Amino acid sequence: MYKIVRKEILNSQVKLLEIEAPYVARKAEPGQFIILRVDESGERIPFTIADYDREKGTVTIIFQEVGASTLALGLLNEGDSLADFVGPLGVASELEGVKKAAVIGGGLGSAIAYPQAKKLNQMGASVDVIMGYRNKDIIILEKEMAEVSDRLFVTTDDGSNGTKGFVSDILQKLLDEGTEYDVVIAIGPAIMMKVVCDVTRPHGIRTIVSLNPIMIDGTGMCGGCRVTVGGETKFACVDGPDFDGHQVDFDELMRRLSMYKDKERTAVERHKCRLEDQVNAK
Ligand SMILES: Cc1cc2nc3c(=O)[nH]c(=O)nc-3n(C[C@H](O)[C@H](O)[C@H](O)COP(=O)(O)OP(=O)(O)OC[C@H]3O[C@@H](n4cnc5c(N)ncnc54)[C@H](O)[C@@H]3O)c2cc1C
Ligand code: FES
Repeated sequence: MYKIVRKEILNSQVKLLEIEAPYVARKAEPGQFIILRVDESGERIPFTIADYDREKGTVTIIFQEVGASTLALGLLNEGDSLADFVGPLGVASELEGVKKAAVIGGGLGSAIAYPQAKKLNQMGASVDVIMGYRNKDIIILEKEMAEVSDRLFVTTDDGSNGTKGFVSDILQKLLDEGTEYDVVIAIGPAIMMKVVCDVTRPHGIRTIVSLNPIMIDGTGMCGGCRVTVGGETKFACVDGPDFDGHQVDFDELMRRLSMYKDKERTAVERHKCRLEDQVNAK
């Protein structure tokens, strides 16, 4: 069993859990992920490793409550345990030799890009972080990102904090001003990563994106997470989740991500009904 040693509520929909998982913590690297199950009958849920502490033997995940399983996970508290916690899975981000990087996160992606920014900072690279949110109420990990970056830029779609606009606008401005990067790392919604790639492509800047297609087994066996990269089929769970963004077929990825929307909506409604029944029965 994998015990929750710390729980933090980062905003109305986003929670942080630090979990005792010494074998995962020992090997974890930025860019990798884990798959957990809340209980024996739960579904397998993949999450990016948001942080790890090898000495304490803990791994941190940050997650958004979007559906039945993440809502169930959010109900757990410090002292509770998870049935399974498997990892680290996937290929670690290739950061060797980077001297100057831009780390770009959209929404929850801002938080899960934290390990890359932290590692680059520890390696002595100069790091510009650009974090984008819909509005000021959902900004998370601003202090932590400030600590591991040389410059931190925050954007909100509605202008309620930082610069009004998108992360790609800031990146475009920095590139227009002559800033040079060895690598740009973009993590967030597929459309954001696609737009960032469109900005970096004319400059020929290596751009790493982290893809989150639907995953089932997470071991390369089921084919559920297939994506097209450079015209070839890749499995995000074993070949990624990091890929060369300029080679990714984002339109196909976005089509596949929207395939299960109706089923997911039904599952959330069922979950809410069960919760209401439990509350009414008390
Ligand atoms: C490699 C990887 C890393 C991820 N890291 C994070 C993270 O750090 N924090 C976070 O909040 N979320 C992360 N996700 C997404 C997370 O797995 C889904 O939000 C979660 O599975 C939703 O389950 P649900 O039952 O609550 O919602 P559902 O109602 O089942 O689904 C809601 C949305 O979640 C996504 N989703 C559902 N099932 C899966 C699945 N098996 N694999 C991938 N996506 C799915 C779909 O986009 C779907 O539209 C990651 C996904 C992948 C593949
Ligand atoms: S999740 Fe099954 S092959 Fe990747």
